[in-house]
Amino acid sequence: MKRAVVVFIALITVFAGLLSHQLGNIKAGSEGQTDTSDTGYEYYTGEDQSEEDSGVKKTARQKKSPLIKVDTKEDSVTVLVNRQYRMSADYIPADLVVPNVRFSFYGTYEKSYVRQVTADALEKLFAAAERDDVILKAVSGYRSYARQKEIYDRNVRSRGKSATDLVSAKPGSSEHQTGLTLDVSSESVGCALEESFGDTSDGKWLAKNCHKYGFIIRYPKDKTKITGYSYEPWHIRYVGRKLATYLYKKNMTLEEYYKTTTVDQQIREPEGKIRDVPDDDKNEPVMTAAPTPKPGHKISSVKPVTATKKPVVTRKPTPKPTKKPVKKPAAKPTRKPAPEPTKKPVTTPASDPAANTTDTPSTPDGSIPEQDGVETTTEDTISQQNTDEDINLGTK
Ligand code: DAL
Ligand code: ZN
Repeated sequence: MKRAVVVFIALITVFAGLLSHQLGNIKAGSEGQTDTSDTGYEYYTGEDQSEEDSGVKKTARQKKSPLIKVDTKEDSVTVLVNRQYRMSADYIPADLVVPNVRFSFYGTYEKSYVRQVTADALEKLFAAAERDDVILKAVSGYRSYARQKEIYDRNVRSRGKSATDLVSAKPGSSEHQTGLTLDVSSESVGCALEESFGDTSDGKWLAKNCHKYGFIIRYPKDKTKITGYSYEPWHIRYVGRKLATYLYKKNMTLEEYYKTTTVDQQIREPEGKIRDVPDDDKNEPVMTAAPTPKPGHKISSVKPVTATKKPVVTRKPTPKPTKKPVKKPAAKPTRKPAPEPTKKPVTTPASDPAANTTDTPSTPDGSIPEQDGVETTTEDTISQQNTDEDINLGTK
């Protein structure tokens, strides 16, 4: 009898031990690294969890390479758009609005718009900058496929193709078409889009802080061979706070995150200073309403372009690969109806829009006064953001 009791206690102890180990794994799993909700794509959402924390031994492959599929949904905030992954010509975001921030120009144009999620984050970013005495100005936001074509073609005519290709995306391959991207500058460089902005205290503030509001400097210094574009300290892209913070901490581009690169290795770092003159067109049409998708338009996928050279895996490159380069899987079209706009697009009130383009007086110090009806938020509302939204906002 005594022996039976001892055996019983031993069994209970072993069972309890197993149960607690298993519970530990479940807890670790619930804080795991990928989020497959909504889109079905898997996103790496944070730092590697240590084996001690998770109680699960990872394989060498898992350690090196968490599973991340390239996000090709045109309306997803984590979509990859570059020379290799291109938007369809008819994609227009369904929720374009004019953000309540300072602009480097007067009036409302296509470039005044961004997606609602971008506008919300941008207003917080600019307000935070202002609290630190940094006055940022939005220079260029959304661009349609047609507009990008005009800009690209004009650049090719004035600078030649290879110089253009370092700073200006071909139509379909510009992130500006997503409504998640803006060019931002400040009066310290006359609101120019030039590399020297990155050396100013305003540009430095932007680079150091934009991730807190969900933005990344999309084309960092010394990453030309990966992104395909020269350093653009002015071009910020909304990806959500979690991913932006992850990329910032890891000093990683979106291409590195998705383990792809858009360019062949022939591309050279640019010589001399780069300056972008994307859309300073005096004949730009004034907008009286937000651009909207054509009725019945379906959201499509960003299409991988069949590269003449295979995409190169950017991590751990070997001088002479013995394996075949990883073949990029064709993006699965995930056709969904275009989301309904959640808010009415904001248009700058102007009784005579054309008059707005030239006649607004400058302030005595030469700076540009705030737009009518524009109020800059001064409260720090970042802590109130729903962080769950940040990783996967595909349908927002
Ligand atoms: N300047 C960036 C690459 C664009 O044209 O989208
Ligand atoms: Zn840009």
